[in-house]
Amino acid sequence: HDKPKVVIVIFGATGDLAKRKLFPSIYRLYQNEKISKEFAVVGLARRPWTNDVFRENVKHSIDDAHATDDDIDSFTSHFYYHSFDATSDASFQELNSLLGDLENTYQTEGNRIFYLAMAPEYFGPIANSLKSFGLKNSAGWSRLVIEKPFGHDLKSANELNNEIREAFDEEQIYRIDHYLGKEMVQNIEVIRFANGLFEHLWNNRFISNIQVTSSEVLGVEDRARYYDHSGATRDMVQNHMLQMVALLAMEPPIKLTTDEIRSEKVKVLRALRQLNTEDIGDYFVRGQYSDGTMDGKQLNGYQQEADTLAGSNTETFVAGKIMIDNYRWAGVPFYIRTGKRMAVKSTKIVVEFKDIPMNLYYTEESKKHPNLLVINIQPEEGITLHLNAKKAGAGSVAQPIQLAYTNKEVDGINTPEAYEKLLHDCMLGDATNFTHWDEVAYSWAFVDAILNAWSSTKAYFPNYPSGSMGPEAADRLLEKDGFHWWPIIKNNE
Ligand code: BG6
Repeated sequence: HDKPKVVIVIFGATGDLAKRKLFPSIYRLYQNEKISKEFAVVGLARRPWTNDVFRENVKHSIDDAHATDDDIDSFTSHFYYHSFDATSDASFQELNSLLGDLENTYQTEGNRIFYLAMAPEYFGPIANSLKSFGLKNSAGWSRLVIEKPFGHDLKSANELNNEIREAFDEEQIYRIDHYLGKEMVQNIEVIRFANGLFEHLWNNRFISNIQVTSSEVLGVEDRARYYDHSGATRDMVQNHMLQMVALLAMEPPIKLTTDEIRSEKVKVLRALRQLNTEDIGDYFVRGQYSDGTMDGKQLNGYQQEADTLAGSNTETFVAGKIMIDNYRWAGVPFYIRTGKRMAVKSTKIVVEFKDIPMNLYYTEESKKHPNLLVINIQPEEGITLHLNAKKAGAGSVAQPIQLAYTNKEVDGINTPEAYEKLLHDCMLGDATNFTHWDEVAYSWAFVDAILNAWSSTKAYFPNYPSGSMGPEAADRLLEKDGFHWWPIIKNNE
């Protein structure tokens, strides 16, 4: 099973995701011999492209300085394009016979991945047509990969899920959360459970708070149509941020199987304190960027980015205090924040430990330096442990020191991209790093409550300048609990 034989069918093959992530990922799997030479990729979209045009596009998406034209051509020869209308029966029938032909040519044993990288309104209908036209009942396995957004709220997610489940079983559904493919997100579990050092302290007796920041420098770019109906809470919190919180807070699994890990994550998501309209202001802060300058460049505010955005009430920033009401975490705030047009592109977790009961080593002037465990998810990957040690010279005065580990590229090979790992997992039938329906449902329930509360109150937008770390209210959220955001600086700085 090491080198799966498969036909990958990409719905939305002319789109951005296919070009930026999927084609390069398939290429790397091919180049690193993680996938059998017996494979084919079928690209589907409305445009009337030929195989040649498609292959040319695939070629452009790959920048590999070491590959020769021949290498790339032999890779792209596995790619086939089919002009496709998701609402037409004939399209599915034609696709069916194309898949049959390719399976003869490449001997892929009937294994099929259907990758839905297109407008979400087609997810349900396509899944059902794949069943009714017999495409998912090939001789091998069939798996359905679904990109976000998985619904707009709990109700629509539930409807979508029911629709898909009419055609595919839960085990055949791979819901993508690309953060789960990131090397250092996967590392959270290992750092926690493969070290005797941390797990004993990993609870409300020793940890005072945990901070998860995912900040972006880019603004809404050309995604206003999607983003203005989504906002940062749906776009980032419902999925990526809550997934990181779940990994940080879960109990150790009894085995490293998909089901065991999921069920621990689900328990965390079930324990999230549900917020209501009266107390939302104590827990969550929303923001929207105004204009500003970054690196000497003048940037638009969100509402000026596109005509459709004037007067928009959509949040491009969110900070929140999440309480996990269970035995391990009662009383420990998990602060999260994420937003667009912030000062730095960074995803970072800071675990702040409680002060020791009595400290003889501080001077009047020296500030307190609690122990911190910092997990750098991106762009630098690594771990930094902040400790106190003696300052050289006379007396016994403590000063903060850092032990830092940086996850360097190995032999010039880049850390595998999230999508490459996730695609490979899917081919191997490993759904651990995909989100189960239960996780999606509990995450939506939590997010729905926040959005409901906000929908009845007015937002005063814009409220943070482009290039800042968000509105001041996000700082006050921690200050009133006696904490502050640890600065987002580069590793080892
Ligand atoms: C996506 C969001 O899921 O994640 C985007 O839709 C966001 O709005 C992106 O920019 C961030 O991903 P990454 O990997 O760049 O942190």
